[in-house]
Amino acid sequence: MSISIFYFILFYQEILYVFGWGPIGHSLIARLAQSQLDSSTNSWINNYIPSNLSGNLSAIASWPDEIIDLNKNPFDYNKWQWSHELHFLTIPDWNCKYISRRDCLNNRCIEGALKNYSERLIDNNYDYIQQQQALFFLVHFVGDVHQPLHCGFKGDFGGHNVIGFFFNKTNPINLHYVWDSEIMNIHINRHFQSDVNLYYEYLKSLMFNQYFLINETYNDYKKWIDESVSYVCKQVYLDDNNIKLDISRNFVLGEEYFNRNWPLIDQRLAQAGRRLASLLNQLSKNRSSKKLSSEIQTLIIILCIGLAIGIFATLGVYLYKRKKNREYDVLTSE
Ligand SMILES: *[C@@H]1O[C@H](CO)[C@@H](O)[C@H](O)[C@H]1NC(C)=O
Ligand SMILES: *[C@@H]1O[C@H](CO)[C@@H](O)[C@H](O)[C@H]1NC(C)=O
Ligand SMILES: *[C@@H]1O[C@H](CO)[C@@H](O)[C@H](O)[C@H]1NC(C)=O
Ligand SMILES: *[C@@H]1O[C@H](CO)[C@@H](O)[C@H](O)[C@H]1NC(C)=O
Ligand SMILES: *[C@@H]1O[C@H](CO)[C@@H](O)[C@H](O)[C@H]1NC(C)=O
Ligand SMILES: [Zn+2]
Repeated sequence: MSISIFYFILFYQEILYVFGWGPIGHSLIARLAQSQLDSSTNSWINNYIPSNLSGNLSAIASWPDEIIDLNKNPFDYNKWQWSHELHFLTIPDWNCKYISRRDCLNNRCIEGALKNYSERLIDNNYDYIQQQQALFFLVHFVGDVHQPLHCGFKGDFGGHNVIGFFFNKTNPINLHYVWDSEIMNIHINRHFQSDVNLYYEYLKSLMFNQYFLINETYNDYKKWIDESVSYVCKQVYLDDNNIKLDISRNFVLGEEYFNRNWPLIDQRLAQAGRRLASLLNQLSKNRSSKKLSSEIQTLIIILCIGLAIGIFATLGVYLYKRKKNREYDVLTSE
């Protein structure tokens, strides 16, 4: 127990600063998604990507992690802390079921954030900066929600307080970090010659084949969460001997845990990429039809005003004529 506390202090910084797939995971998801955007969607979101990034969606995918990171945003990071709780949700330990009204009070969790930012992105009552932030948050959170431990247990803060050794007996790390980055890094090193581009090509083929999710609703956030929760209970918190991982002892995980879990990481990255693309493509369509209907509304208003002016003008002319006629009648009858 005292060892855990020691590690807790040692890794306090990590606990504070690690909020999702590492930059590589988020960048891969955004790249997978961008490869599948309709050209109209792509040019729409391009408006929001700073021009020196040449429309590269991957380059903004980790922004929500960076703004709350003392090291990356030393002057402003405090101002963004409210957004920290939007990167994840937690369920009661081993409860294995996500219930919005219990686990996402006042929408302050990743499900609420996904809803919030997909609405704000296409709601023109928000200004350019607000919509840009909505896009950056949305791209990031679609990634986070597919990292199973972003829907992990409350008792250990989604695996942040479960500490131990992964492949390496010298450096203790937490389980959340194993899932954010470690498994993926070792996977890329071993199976893809340390070349992220090769890994990307492989994930892209997965996205088109196995995990091509036909007939999904573009915004079924609850389904994505339920999947993460079920992986959490089925495999994430179980060691090689199917013994439950928890904060009371250090884990020692290696070859077997790695082999059992990298396929799930591939699957979640591919799913996130495909779902992010279909979400953005659909939002782009919703936005166009919204824009069209507001244009039609404007047209109708203009027509009504025109018609009203016409009616008043006609009426005015008629009344004027009638008055003149009366005057004339009065004059002639006298
Ligand atoms: C783009 O511009 C921003 C702000 O001027 C700067 O912080 C960032 O480093 C630039 N990025 C690249 C890739 O040039
Ligand atoms: C896009 O951004 C990502 C993440 O910053 C970077 O790794 C990648 O090289 C960029 N791609 C291009 C084509 O600039
Ligand atoms: C919705 O977005 C706004 C602007 O970023 C933020 O202030 C608010 O906390 C968000 N709410 C949720 C539930 O994400
Ligand atoms: C173990 O950790 C050390 C220190 O961080 C690192 O240099 C080394 O590469 C790691 N070994 C493996 C097998 O990951
Ligand atoms: C998808 O929807 C179409 C049309 O509703 C249906 O014909 C098809 O069987 C569905 N495919 C799957 C895999 O559910
Ligand atoms: Zn995150």
